Amino acid sequence: MSEASIRKANQLAHKHGIDLSKLPKSLDLTVDNITEVVHAANANCQDERLRFIFKSLVNHLHNFARETSMTTEEWVSAIDFLNNTTRKGADIREESILVLGVLGLLTLDETLNNPTVPGATEGSLLGPFFATNTIEFQNGESIASEGKGEYLWVEGKVLDTKGNPIPNCAIDTWETDGDGLYDVQYDAGGTTDCRGRLHTAEDGSYCYRAVVPVSYPIPGDGTAGQLAKALGRHLFRPAHLHMVLEAEGFEKLVTALYFKGDPYLTSDVTFGVKSSLVVEATIEMDPEVARKRGFREAKEHEVVRYDFVLATAEEAKEAKEAKRRAGLKAQANFAA
Ligand SMILES: [Fe+2]
Repeated sequence: MSEASIRKANQLAHKHGIDLSKLPKSLDLTVDNITEVVHAANANCQDERLRFIFKSLVNHLHNFARETSMTTEEWVSAIDFLNNTTRKGADIREESILVLGVLGLLTLDETLNNPTVPGATEGSLLGPFFATNTIEFQNGESIASEGKGEYLWVEGKVLDTKGNPIPNCAIDTWETDGDGLYDVQYDAGGTTDCRGRLHTAEDGSYCYRAVVPVSYPIPGDGTAGQLAKALGRHLFRPAHLHMVLEAEGFEKLVTALYFKGDPYLTSDVTFGVKSSLVVEATIEMDPEVARKRGFREAKEHEVVRYDFVLATAEEAKEAKEAKRRAGLKAQANFAA
């Protein structure tokens, strides 16, 4: 390189605020030393948390590459996969969420970030079919229109960790119909069905009519479906009722109820089931009870009863703080 060219390059670096004298040397990298050199290149990052996250990420990615010795063709197909994940169906659903679900990362994230307060109900996945446009219902009303599935009656209470009822707790609930589809899958932004919001009564109780949800496959026409199939997995989630509970002074609870006996209970494609959230539906045979509950046909129906326990905001904060301190300890050990 001529002296003039070198001078020009140095001027350009100066113009961009790059102090070349302070940069770590990156030359003749090998399989064994490249990780440390990348760490050194990132060492000027001023955000300590970001620096820590990327140090760990680079470590894991490099170790992954060394461990698997992936071929160039395999890397190309991995890049195609990532590109297709962001593109495919982006207008109707978030495919990347499904991919993370298949890989168990959604459940891992949910569990890591929502430490359960002793006695409080455990959380579960929100899933991609939550919708903000919902309908307000009174206790005893139906969230599902007639003909959407087999009759189901859902009831229970919402309590604090000391057993006191929580009145006026908002419960958002949504489920598949009897064909295993959510309303938004028929027509995004269209008719709301099998979905609703109600509030607990003074004694913390809630009850509503619904339909028996069924196990369903996550959409299989995108990369998440391709990945599951390639890994020899099925695409099904066991039947469930989604629930989000919110009450003033309490930690918001995102959870779901699963049904005992569901054949997919222990092989959920997104790993979301917790045994504390599995309910055993009973059968109500008395037609008079069905009539009183407001079902159009006075016939036998399934009944699910579940009492939710919410942690106070303070209890949840303490649990999260303990988790955060443990995380910071790990971060400090890692950086040392
Ligand atoms: Fe779901």
